Amino acid sequence: METRIDHIVGGIYRIATMTAPYGITFNQFLIDDELPTLIHTGEHGAYENVRGAIREVLDPATLAHVLLLHWEGDENGGMDRFLAEAPQADLVGSALSVGINAHGFGMVDRIRGFADGERLELGRHTLRFWETPHVHHWDSMMVVEETTGSLFPADLFLQPGDQPPVVTDNLGDAMCEVYRQVGIFAHEEPVRAVVDRIEALDPAWTFAMHGGTLTRETLPAYMKALREQDFGYEGKLLGREVAAPA
Ligand SMILES: [Fe+2]
Ligand SMILES: [Fe+2]
Repeated sequence: METRIDHIVGGIYRIATMTAPYGITFNQFLIDDELPTLIHTGEHGAYENVRGAIREVLDPATLAHVLLLHWEGDENGGMDRFLAEAPQADLVGSALSVGINAHGFGMVDRIRGFADGERLELGRHTLRFWETPHVHHWDSMMVVEETTGSLFPADLFLQPGDQPPVVTDNLGDAMCEVYRQVGIFAHEEPVRAVVDRIEALDPAWTFAMHGGTLTRETLPAYMKALREQDFGYEGKLLGREVAAPA
């Protein structure tokens, strides 16, 4: 398992590991600031690789926030290990992730839930939270970083394969095909409503969690694909047919 870290823009780094069983990269994002912030941790077992990549930029023990965009293994499976190493760090998630999942899993200290429109200052960077329920999960959120005009959309705008840090190709068809095979979106409608919101935001950088980072010029082709193609659940989970109800 090989992990790379690349600076993308304004102190924001993409950490990427090609994850063979799924044919996609699992990415984390490090924001180097007065309050260093890690967005996604990777899976529990990826800790040493992700930690090693962070160490090329800063001491992981100085992390101030470990941020999850929804409660799932590749997003926050390593949170226990990163929070243990960084005693000042808080776990940050959507109000729902923290209220239902963190509390329900027995985490009560050093957790912060954010509702739509709330902000978190990191120093030079400012995060703004969007609640995006049912864009993949009930508790899903996205994060906007205001200084660089960045969007962190979690699993939206996925591209399969081992993509470079910045992607300018139109892989919209491949994206929708992966979604149909893997079955991560129950329905197109909640996603398309958020696509409208993203179009109005017009982000300069879109930090897909799987694949490369999309530029402002590249993103419209992916939004077009999401508007014109089916990508909701069609009876398959990770490519496996699920029995139809009797
Ligand atoms: Fe996910
Ligand atoms: Fe993911």
